[in-house]
Parts: sequence; structure tokens; C-alpha cells
Amino acid sequence: MKIRIFSNEDSLAAALARGIVARLQKQPRLVLGLATGRTPLPLYRALAALHDRGASDYAQATTFNLDEFVGLDPSHPGSYRAYMREQLFKHVNLAPRRIHFLDGLAPDLGAGCARFESSVLKAGGIDLQILGIGANGHIGFNEPAPVLSPWSHRVKLTLASRKANAGFFDGKLRDVPREALSMGVATIMHARSIVLMATGREKADVIEKTVTGPVTTRVPASLLQLHHDVEIWLDESAASKLRREGLVAGRGGRLHER
Ligand code: GLP
Repeated sequence: MKIRIFSNEDSLAAALARGIVARLQKQPRLVLGLATGRTPLPLYRALAALHDRGASDYAQATTFNLDEFVGLDPSHPGSYRAYMREQLFKHVNLAPRRIHFLDGLAPDLGAGCARFESSVLKAGGIDLQILGIGANGHIGFNEPAPVLSPWSHRVKLTLASRKANAGFFDGKLRDVPREALSMGVATIMHARSIVLMATGREKADVIEKTVTGPVTTRVPASLLQLHHDVEIWLDESAASKLRREGLVAGRGGRLHER
């Protein structure tokens, strides 16, 4: 896997934002897969700042978000639609019709997931998928389990994931929905390139397992070892276990392969 390590989350976010904008310039019809959670917040801030300076044009770009809660109206501040609107979409010139979410309010959730998969295909597939990672190794909401679903699907959230999301619900665990929709592992693995971001000491263990451990559905992110173009972008805290074990050497965002 290719690994880049940055001194902190802001330098990571700034470099990734510059990379995304450079790709957009080369490929205006870029299809981006986007993640929510705490980790990408500095990335979205950096993308918004670059756009504000006139550095980017999203007019022809398309986005697909990784996951969404079941049963939350898009106007609910805890919904991932609201998160994306606040953090990125209201700051850039994406065409609303090219913004795609799994529909947690669809009367038939399964049919909604199938529609989402067709939209990904119609857009020509995802060029660059941005991922975060749960402390338990989940990507999107593909939680550790004996078997994983390949395509977009309905998920019962683990308590750990609900707790991790409570911050977006004023800290009230009871308000965090019990179910979500998520891209499947195959949806993610079909992206032409993937950048997984992880920051903070609490991700150090799972990053070590993701990069050096066996490929297992018990650590869904470990499946990324099978992808041909995946980069793991870390701050020093998230890389600390890899560093301690002498498994990575790069600094300053330089590429380290292992
Ligand atoms: C969330 C999301 C994921 C995200 C992950 C990590 O619940 N469903 O898409 O990548 O868990 O979140 P955080 O970045 O807040 O640690």
C-alpha cells in the first residue's frame, strides 16, 4: 500500500485539497466519492478556501457520498446531506443534479440503493474515492462482520459507530439513528483510485491492522490492500504505531510503499 505521512491534519488536508483541485483542472468531469465524519472536515475547509480564491471549478464534476442515515430528513442537522451542504457544497459550484446520496427516506430502501448504483455506473464510475476509517476498521458503514455486502445496502449500526457519530447529534446517543445505508465494499473497490485519510492517535491501531494485517472482513479497510491504486494519508498520530514498529519511513507527505 502507498502511505503518506504529514505532520498534522491541516498539512494533510491542504495537500489533498491541492491534489483534488489539480485533478479537477485536468479532468473537469471528475467523479468524486466523498466521506463524512470528523476526519475530512479540514479537507472540506481547504477545498472551500481554494474555491474562494478562484482556484477550482466544479461545474462539470459529480459526487457520490459514501453513506447516509436511514430516516433522517435532509434538513436534519445530523444527516450527512446537511453535513456536506454545510462543509462543502454551499461553498463550491457543484450542480445540485450531479450530487448523489443514498436515499435514507426512500419508501423502498433496497430500490433506492439499486438506483444509486445505477447512477454510479451512468456517471462512468468513481474516479477518486475519499475514505475515512472507523476505529473498528469500518469504511463507509461496512462494519466488521463475517461477511460483507458488495453493493450499496442497508446496515444496522454498531453501538461503537453510533457513539462515534453522537457528536453530530449534540452528543445524544439516543438521537443517532440505528440504521444507515452504505456503499458496499465492491462499490468502493470499483473506484479507479482511493485515498483513505486517518488522523489522531485513536486510529493508530486500526491503521496498523489495515496496512499490515491479514485481509479480513473483520477489518473491512484491510480489503483495500487488494486495490491497485490506494493511498493511505496519515498524520503522525495515526501513523504512530506503524512508525514505532519501523514499518514506514516517509515524512512531509512523501510516498512510502510497503
Ligand atoms: C463514520 C462514517 C464513515 C467515516 C467514519 C470515521 O461514521 N460513516 O464514512 O469515515 O465513520 O469517522 P471519523 O472521521 O469521525 O472518525
